[in-house]
Amino acid sequence: MPLKVINIDLKDKSYDIYIERGILDNIGKNIKKIWEGSKIGIITDHNLDSFYSERIKKSLQDEGFSVKVISIRPGEKSKSLSSLEAVYKELAGFNMTRKDLIIAFGGGVVGDLGGFAASTYLRGIPCIQVPTSLLSQIDSSIGGKAAVNLDMGKNLVGSFYQPKAVYIDPDVLSTLDEIHLKDGLAEVIKYAAILDEELFDRLIEYGSMDELLGDIEYIIFRCCSIKKALVEKDEFDFGERMLLNFGHTIGHGIEKYFNYEKYSHGFGVSIGMYNITKKSEEMGETQKGTSLRLKNLLLKYGLPCDMPDMDSVEFMKIILSDKKNMGGFLNLVLLKRIGQAFVKPVEIDEAKKYILEGCN
Ligand SMILES: NC(=O)c1ccc[n+]([C@@H]2O[C@H](COP(=O)([O-])OP(=O)(O)OC[C@H]3O[C@@H](n4cnc5c(N)ncnc54)[C@H](O)[C@@H]3O)[C@@H](O)[C@H]2O)c1
Ligand SMILES: [Zn+2]
Repeated sequence: MPLKVINIDLKDKSYDIYIERGILDNIGKNIKKIWEGSKIGIITDHNLDSFYSERIKKSLQDEGFSVKVISIRPGEKSKSLSSLEAVYKELAGFNMTRKDLIIAFGGGVVGDLGGFAASTYLRGIPCIQVPTSLLSQIDSSIGGKAAVNLDMGKNLVGSFYQPKAVYIDPDVLSTLDEIHLKDGLAEVIKYAAILDEELFDRLIEYGSMDELLGDIEYIIFRCCSIKKALVEKDEFDFGERMLLNFGHTIGHGIEKYFNYEKYSHGFGVSIGMYNITKKSEEMGETQKGTSLRLKNLLLKYGLPCDMPDMDSVEFMKIILSDKKNMGGFLNLVLLKRIGQAFVKPVEIDEAKKYILEGCN
């Protein structure tokens, strides 16, 4: 399938997302077309480094760029102030100036940390995102949210910093492990459920994971197009972008309840999407049959739906400590039907009815 381009229109911060199989090997030529500097710091993690650094470096060096690879340990623990400091030091050691460029080459961890390093090093130097996990290809690399975690919570220190471009090579998903592939698929199903019934139906139709992966460029394109529309309407996440939180209030709660050790993000979101929809359907706010359709699709791709065994008081406490608890209200994202979502601000007591569905 040929190159697909999506323009994110944010006035002077506009940029293009390029989606193409094999684009990694042409990254040098592509960057040459949109950027005039000569020195590039690639921020990545050890997994990506071992699979792809040589290829990406060669493509850049063939175009005359001078390149340094800065590799962090894989995993969420690296989204920290201490890794950030180590990255700043490597950038400084390579004498990076504001005329130079950072490439964040990896999953959401590298994207968020690399984006934040770029937005703050020397008060901001240009950044290009080359996302490699399904989640980062459809979600985290687009929209300019960059952050690191503190011990007290995730993404507590961050910025909005739009990249100069995003290059997505679906072929790199061939080395992504199954758990992270499923994590990304939960977000794909989320996009389909909130705004794209056609994609939802297509996900039902694929006969196997291989068939889905054969069509992954189309899936990435559809998801990025939805994110584009939401980001353009709501760059700083005060309104429309909230729809992306479908399933996330419960999902984040579950992840946190089990100390981020038992449930991955996508698994938490999967449980969250199903259970909140089951409840809103019971309350007459969602078209009948929607939660069953959603459940069948989630189960088809090996994603969970059942609420884990949790103490409901403790669970609610965790949810209310989340930043989405604003002044006695919670903004819940509910489905009207598949392909149509809305935000419902509800008081805490009312919110409990939705959130504790399926909880003991
Ligand atoms: N900025 C945003 O808008 C936004 C949105 C959603 C999530 N996020 C953030 O994204 C992060 C999660 O992202 P993630 O799920 O990509 O996690 P991740 O970056 O930790 O990647 C998951 C694992 O897969 C490996 N990996 C990635 N791509 C690979 C590939 N092609 N081949 C082999 N291995 C590969 C990584 O090394 C890592 O071990 C979280 O920190 C979350 O807060 C940010
Ligand atoms: Zn998510």
